[in-house]
Amino acid sequence: MVSTTATPPRGDASAAPLLECVDLRKSYVLPGSKRHAPGTLSVLNGVNLTIRPAEMVSIVGQSGVGKSTLLQILGTLDRPTNGKVLYEGEDVFALPGARLAAFRNARVGFVFQFHHLLAEFSALENAMLPALIAGKPPRQAEEMAAHYLEEVGLAARAKHKPGELSGGEAQRVAIARALVMKPDIVFADEPTGNLDTKTSDEIHHLLVDLNGRLGTAFVVVTHNVRLAWLLDRHLLLEDGVVRDLADDEAPEQFLPKKDARGHG
Ligand SMILES: Nc1ncnc2c1ncn2[C@@H]1O[C@H](COP(=O)(O)OP(=O)(O)OP(=O)(O)O)[C@@H](O)[C@H]1O
Ligand SMILES: [Mg+2]
Repeated sequence: MVSTTATPPRGDASAAPLLECVDLRKSYVLPGSKRHAPGTLSVLNGVNLTIRPAEMVSIVGQSGVGKSTLLQILGTLDRPTNGKVLYEGEDVFALPGARLAAFRNARVGFVFQFHHLLAEFSALENAMLPALIAGKPPRQAEEMAAHYLEEVGLAARAKHKPGELSGGEAQRVAIARALVMKPDIVFADEPTGNLDTKTSDEIHHLLVDLNGRLGTAFVVVTHNVRLAWLLDRHLLLEDGVVRDLADDEAPEQFLPKKDARGHG
């Protein structure tokens, strides 16, 4: 686990990898028809990458190139067709299903474009859920959730239901929920794609702040130029493979044209 007491500097090249993926491939079988045999769509064609503890990494690339697919596999929500995902050297897809689910709940957090909070539960109850699923006693789960609501600046809205929160506040609750188990890494898929510019910028700075305070690694798929520029390292997904962008390669040239204005 990444310890918050001895957080390595962001992107410390000497730190042991937190996550590695090796020759990751994903293809989908497309349904056939009377006249055509089933086909396959290859989305990932051999992705290799290493994420170190506490790194802040953006993934950019054109729409439909496979960014969400890659994030889901790195976060163990989906399985690759081939290849391995290693967390601190452990091949996580070799774990039996129940252990993989427990691993994911304890070590990995997710933030999506839409908050996916449960409408009938309060902000606090939503943020508690991963801790309850992990079997924490309700009292302790509540304390953990209250702590992370405070970390995201939302202690005053703990009793509000999602329908009583602004879009930015709801996304803060989703971030608290992602952090409540103190994961090593959070995957965020266009986390501010649904927010206005000012609210997006506040959330972007919150992510950077949380990374600095908690030592959590963040891997963020984004179409947002300003967010990409705030992060330490930029990965490009193109033609089914990932490469690091060089320092003089601006991430915006690889964003869909309609998005390269700083929105979303
Ligand atoms: N379950 C599935 N079955 C078949 N094809 C799929 C499936 N899921 C995704 N795809 C296809 O895989 C490709 C990559 O999809 P993905 O959602 O990963 O793209 P993306 O880079 O996240 O795009 P965007 O920027 O628009 O969110 C797309 O062509 C999509 O149609
Ligand atoms: Mg996507």
